[in-house]
Amino acid sequence: MIQPKRLLLNISRAPSNTENRLGKVMRLDHNERTTPLPQAVLDAVWKTVSPEEVVAYPALESLYRKLAASLGVPRECLLLTYGSDTGIRMVFDTYLNEGDEVVMLDPGYGMFPVYTDMFGGKRVFVKYDADFSLPVTRIIEKINDNTKLVILANPNHTGTAMADGDILKVIQVAATHNALVLVDEAYHYFYEKTMIGQLPAYDNLIIVRTMSKAFGIAPLRVGYLVSQSANINNLIKVKLTYDVTTLSAKFAEYLIDHPSIGLEYVRDVNEGKAYLADEFKKLGAKVFPSVTNFVFVRLPEGSDAVKLVRALEARDIWIKGPFKGVPVDGYIRITVGPRAQMAIFMEHVKELMGKKHEG
Ligand SMILES: Cc1ncc(COP(=O)(O)O)c(C=O)c1O
Repeated sequence: MIQPKRLLLNISRAPSNTENRLGKVMRLDHNERTTPLPQAVLDAVWKTVSPEEVVAYPALESLYRKLAASLGVPRECLLLTYGSDTGIRMVFDTYLNEGDEVVMLDPGYGMFPVYTDMFGGKRVFVKYDADFSLPVTRIIEKINDNTKLVILANPNHTGTAMADGDILKVIQVAATHNALVLVDEAYHYFYEKTMIGQLPAYDNLIIVRTMSKAFGIAPLRVGYLVSQSANINNLIKVKLTYDVTTLSAKFAEYLIDHPSIGLEYVRDVNEGKAYLADEFKKLGAKVFPSVTNFVFVRLPEGSDAVKLVRALEARDIWIKGPFKGVPVDGYIRITVGPRAQMAIFMEHVKELMGKKHEG
């Protein structure tokens, strides 16, 4: 067999998930939108597509201008990407030399370490405390002259957010070592704060966002990078010739023009989250507070989390976990949907935990 290039020899990745998760009971495992967009939205978007647009290569200028205006950033500070995952990969591809250190939080988005390996970087993990806290000094002390990239998902993988002041400290320390900070705001809109306002002041700051989460169009693969234009001009060097498609751009534009669709979903998720926290508490479980559309839940002492996850799976209800490692050891993770959906979910949980008739 012909070997792949050296840097790929130790990377193993599961084959792409081709399993059909559609039309099953509940997809609460990948932090997508859990309820369909209204058919009226699909019909309205489709009406904006001209026959010529489905034969010509994508022309994304209209989306660029709309998105730049909605974010309040200059057009040249923006780069649309094929999902935010591709945007993240482009940052590695543009900046990482072999041996450069990449500082990232553990747990974190699974592709950060994979891209570090793929581009020859050195993984530097920063761990949380068991109570989900992470003093910013712990991140800062890992930054040195070998650091090229510091990645902060905010909110992060535990569903919590870092204070803006702490993120700024990291950006400032990174700047003194010529290191970039990539702030991944995938869960923006569930959490309103953003570092976008800091972009003019820091040339070592890149922000990545996605339309997969609050806006709900994960399969359409629309993400974007925001940074000073000089950085965007470098990132463009590794861009695929074409990535975001015309149809995806049409959906994205429609959702930017109709922000209530995303914002109502955020409100629905917040209601679902409050409901889940109450219901799990009644069962003696602990829901860790989250500013995202997912929650970590620790079942009461003596409950078998593995058994519950498997039993839910047998009913075509997918959740994640139980996880291993601090701080999420033993926790399960549930993507939160609107309250009505969460009520159905909790019926299943209560039945499986034998608490159906106890209120
Ligand atoms: C923190 C974070 N960043 C990025 C992504 C990638 O999202 P997408 O490629 O759909 O934009 C995810 C997906 O779960 C995520 O959790």
